[in-house]
Amino acid sequence: MIYPLGDFHFPDAASRLYPQAPERPWVLEIGFGDGRFWPHHAATFGAPPNYLGVELSGVSLLKAHRRLKNAGLDNAVLTKLPADVLLREVVPQAGLDGIIVNFPDPWPKAGHLEHRLLRVPFFQLAASRLKPGGAVLLTTDHDEYFDFACQAARDSGVMAVELTAPPPAALETKYALKWRDLGLAPQHARFTPTAHPDVPHGDIRPYPEDPDHVPHAILTLPPAFVPAVPGQPFEKRTVRGGGWTVILLDLYASLRRDGWVALAHVVEGELTQEVLIGITGREDGSHLVRLSKFGGPIITPGVKAAVGAVTDWLEEAGGQVTHRGY
Ligand SMILES: C[S@@+](CC[C@H](N)C(=O)[O-])C[C@H]1O[C@@H](n2cnc3c(N)ncnc32)[C@H](O)[C@@H]1O
Repeated sequence: MIYPLGDFHFPDAASRLYPQAPERPWVLEIGFGDGRFWPHHAATFGAPPNYLGVELSGVSLLKAHRRLKNAGLDNAVLTKLPADVLLREVVPQAGLDGIIVNFPDPWPKAGHLEHRLLRVPFFQLAASRLKPGGAVLLTTDHDEYFDFACQAARDSGVMAVELTAPPPAALETKYALKWRDLGLAPQHARFTPTAHPDVPHGDIRPYPEDPDHVPHAILTLPPAFVPAVPGQPFEKRTVRGGGWTVILLDLYASLRRDGWVALAHVVEGELTQEVLIGITGREDGSHLVRLSKFGGPIITPGVKAAVGAVTDWLEEAGGQVTHRGY
């Protein structure tokens, strides 16, 4: 099953994601590509573990979904997200039995090392999300990244490093076959937590059922207020706060009622969301600024700040704010 971020709970539970057999081991694969690893690996178990797969590429997501479906693996949840967002916000503390990383992008250029997945913060997060006895399994053909990852695991202070043979299924992935054809031999490491640090979940929740809990504000705009001149380009605004950046990108007039919709780009670490914020006339003459449900946004500090940024902008244009609910 494919889950958008907004369909998860924060954090989620195996009992909700895999109601058929929540007691089975729970394994996360990061960057599953076209999904060849899991059908091979799952076939080595009597009952396949519950599978969570995370991938950045939408094309790979669809290919892997088809492959797992054809293999009859119905206890698999796939999602298109940056891995660290899933691990931090969705996976509960001590939730996983294993984390698999096969042939991660090596980011070989010197200035790009911060893009690598397997750095110290990743190992600390992984150690907090693994059960006692769980492990991160890395297979890669890239010797320099392999050494870098082993060193990062040691530097994290929470992982023991063991160099072993890869699981046979890791030698059947698309990239394993590609590098084998070029004569490159992969290396494999098993990283086992020696401590389980408390890495907290962020302040993040799904779009609320109750409209009073949707981030909003109420204000009174000046008479005959026009927020932007039609035909003129919208002047972008960027607002930065602790851990988030909000860019107000554009504004659209509603043809149906007295109001507008603002488009905002919200960046919080690896997580980016495009959200719509409505500005709608109310019967009493005031206006409601409220996050729209469109696109399934999740409520984060940055998304609340986006509602605040629209409100502040209207206030600067002469609006009188009577209520802030964000
Ligand atoms: C080199 S490919 C390997 C794919 C597959 N594991 C294999 O062995 O064939 C790396 C994959 O990781 C994915 N990826 C890179 N960074 C990621 C991240 N932060 N979160 C999730 N997936 C990521 C990429 O989209 C790509 O599909």
